[in-house]
Amino acid sequence: MIFRVLVLSVFLIIGAKSQDNAGSSVAKALLECYNKTENLDRELRPPSSINVLIELIRRIESGPSIQNDREISIELIHRFKQDGIIRHLTATGTPYSVPYTPKGMQSDKHKILLTKLIPGSAVNFPDEALTEVERCSLHFMLSNSIDARKRDGESQVCNKLDRFQRRIRRDVDPNQDVEIIDTGSPTQSKGNLQEDEQQEHELDTVNEQEETDVFQEPRTNSRQTVTLTFSDCPVENGAVYTRWGTVQAGVVISGIAAAREPQNIKVQENYVVNGIYASTLVGDLSEVALHQGAGGKDAFVVGAKGGWNGTQAPRWYFINKIINNEMTDAEIRGGLDGLIIAKNVKDWKQKFSNLKVSQVLDMYYSSRGVFSNKNFRACNRNRIFTEVAPQKDLTEQTIANSFLLNEEAKLPGSLTSEGIKAYSEKAVDALINYIAELHDLPCDNDPIERVSTDILIVVDCEWDYSILSRALAYLLDNLDVNKYASSFSVIDGKEGGYLVNSSNSILDFYAKLNRTVYFQTKGGFDVSKAFNAIETISRRKLDENKADRIAGGQSSIVLFVPHSVLNEADKSTANSRKQALKQTFPDLKLLVLGRNSKESYDALVVDSNSDVFVLSDTSTDGAAITDSVNSVISRTKEIHRRIVNPNCDSTWNGGSSSETLEQFVEPSTVNYYRILPNYFYGEGSRTIKVRGYAYGNLAVCMSKQKERPSKNSTDGDDRCETVSSNEVSFPLTDMCKGYSDAYSCPPVYISVEAVEVGESRFTKCLDNGCRFPDNIKYTIQAENLNCYGSGSYRIIGNAFVLLVTYSIVKLFF
Ligand SMILES: *[C@@H]1O[C@H](CO)[C@@H](O)[C@H](O)[C@H]1NC(C)=O
Ligand SMILES: *[C@@H]1O[C@H](CO)[C@@H](O)[C@H](O)[C@H]1NC(C)=O
Ligand SMILES: *[C@@H]1O[C@H](CO)[C@@H](O)[C@H](O)[C@H]1NC(C)=O
Ligand SMILES: *[C@@H]1O[C@H](CO)[C@@H](O)[C@H](O)[C@H]1NC(C)=O
Ligand SMILES: *[C@@H]1O[C@H](CO)[C@@H](O)[C@H](O)[C@H]1NC(C)=O
Repeated sequence: MIFRVLVLSVFLIIGAKSQDNAGSSVAKALLECYNKTENLDRELRPPSSINVLIELIRRIESGPSIQNDREISIELIHRFKQDGIIRHLTATGTPYSVPYTPKGMQSDKHKILLTKLIPGSAVNFPDEALTEVERCSLHFMLSNSIDARKRDGESQVCNKLDRFQRRIRRDVDPNQDVEIIDTGSPTQSKGNLQEDEQQEHELDTVNEQEETDVFQEPRTNSRQTVTLTFSDCPVENGAVYTRWGTVQAGVVISGIAAAREPQNIKVQENYVVNGIYASTLVGDLSEVALHQGAGGKDAFVVGAKGGWNGTQAPRWYFINKIINNEMTDAEIRGGLDGLIIAKNVKDWKQKFSNLKVSQVLDMYYSSRGVFSNKNFRACNRNRIFTEVAPQKDLTEQTIANSFLLNEEAKLPGSLTSEGIKAYSEKAVDALINYIAELHDLPCDNDPIERVSTDILIVVDCEWDYSILSRALAYLLDNLDVNKYASSFSVIDGKEGGYLVNSSNSILDFYAKLNRTVYFQTKGGFDVSKAFNAIETISRRKLDENKADRIAGGQSSIVLFVPHSVLNEADKSTANSRKQALKQTFPDLKLLVLGRNSKESYDALVVDSNSDVFVLSDTSTDGAAITDSVNSVISRTKEIHRRIVNPNCDSTWNGGSSSETLEQFVEPSTVNYYRILPNYFYGEGSRTIKVRGYAYGNLAVCMSKQKERPSKNSTDGDDRCETVSSNEVSFPLTDMCKGYSDAYSCPPVYISVEAVEVGESRFTKCLDNGCRFPDNIKYTIQAENLNCYGSGSYRIIGNAFVLLVTYSIVKLFF
């Protein structure tokens, strides 16, 4: 016991030094991620998706200290990345130790990364910018290791891995939402394992055992027990899901950091290691060269296919073999992405000096690409591979870096210089052949349609948690929930209380709607209470918008997710409450994602044909969930942003207003708005003015006939103007002439399209609302909007009024 305490205090002293994450123990600042079951349980952490990573980085960027992309990328690596951490097979934690230690093969390369390739520290990192769970999530998303421990009941998962891969191969057209990212070549399963390879791997591990004595209980386990604990499909840590294939995100961030802190290191025989190559693609190539070379292989193996057992909330990424995993598919993609970004980030900074790390990732992992150049996007990585990494450079850099790694790495044998060179070349050849066969989702050039909505989700907690949480996670992930686009709240459909209060961060969804909270609810759907809650929340929003003088923006959606069947009484209540709600909040769109047929939810929506979507409650299959939710997502894209008079209260009383709404549009996209006649019915002169600020060129169109007015349209009443730094006006006067009331008069639609002139794009968006540097700012000012309602249906909840309202309103919907 005394011995253990002694050893531990020595490690603490060493650990406190600046190269903490390069030490031979888990870094002190990361211990919080290993000494608590909550932080170790990935079901309790947010999933490993690129959007979650981007959101975590955004939090840091807007955190207490203002730092640039160079500082942040270097700190991310020094504070959160520590590779090769594995759980000791037999040790257990004590109050003085955790049974984890960086003994994995990746730790050698990692030490070089932190001490030589990306020198720096994280002393200025603002820890308080993130919660403990968020800090640990970031650590696990950026740190690479392979957990080869056998898991209980893993055969089910490992078998599924094969089955998913077969399913993909059958589908010629790989859907973006497939459960498994990998296509093509046949699975290499345990059956293919050579007898001697297995032997070699086991021996390696037994040796590692012997070196980790510090944390180990007296060795009572026989070798037999140790060798039996390998998984058929190990978990790869640090893997992050993107639509264009899973990546090791830590390698991508390393690339950014290395590019912003360029290093050239002289090694043997006048080779010079370039920090950008070595911290990305070449780092793993050297691992392949040295480990497989020293291990006496003659055919070098790169790549390890893998898959998630659920991409809607991706948390577990399994790879299909336990040997030759020095360079997995996720590492290849991450290394290539890191290299592409690293080689270009200097140019991008010249274009836009305030470029943020979150923006680079947000643009690169999107079909839009970085700035106007569609070359630089994840879907295109394979195509520009040879351009970014010419074979000659790749080989030279791999040799140089292998010399460097050879000084640190613990290999199964000792290599000569000739060996290092020859094996590096072989590793590069193997990679070039492999990348040609790595088939990820190809680029599409479909127009990008962004959603900007405030969605209120009313859930029936009778749903199976796994289905519901994955469906909602997938929905929110695709609605661009972030401070630039969409926000959401979730309420319990039985009691009407909040499960998640209004938020524009996807992290809140994962933090708040956890299993524990979900199982504390009663389950079920109470129509009255649900509508009461919707009404209260909508009314509060109206009051807040009035106080803050917010003249519209995001579309407004209520999504019911009922599991229960509505009986006749429910339906009649729903019908009247719905009509009353539409009267008071006519911009609110009601949608349903339910278990039964479309018709059975008629009462909750205006048009069940277009607004009800069916989600199966029996199939836990990910593809079934994404299919259902995709149709909800498409529908939300059709719902217009709003332009309103914020003075109107829920009884349609209030003075006229001329507020200005600040908005942004992304290049090659269009924002669509709708103004209800309630705001422009009646006498008086009214105008919509749109002003540009020289951020780029806009085509602004208005129509009363078309929901999507366009400068391209050749028929109809579309009226278009061009805006760059000028202001254009559209009259709204007398728009309802000839209509006897506001409800029969059609609304007015406005579109704002970002128009590109040649390849030129402005990159000057620095305002708080700028998601991308090339977003185009404009303002909409609606002059003299008024409030027009019938005034007779004030209070909802009074049965008599309801009845009257119902019969009046029936005429209009
Ligand atoms: C875990 O480690 C952190 C950091 O060293 C420490 O602050 C915390 O008290 C530890 N928690 C437990 C439960 O041991
Ligand atoms: C994924 O696999 C892990 C480990 O076997 C398991 O705990 C988890 O529940 C699985 N998740 C899904 C969605 O199947
Ligand atoms: C939800 O958030 C709003 C402000 O955003 C706050 O006024 C309200 O009290 C919160 N409700 C609950 C139940 O936390
Ligand atoms: C579940 O969420 C609640 C509310 O945010 C939180 O207090 C609780 O700690 C969470 N539980 C777990 C196990 O994470
Ligand atoms: C209008 O036409 C141009 C050129 O064909 C096209 O790029 C653009 O997307 C179109 N705009 C809309 C709103 O359809």
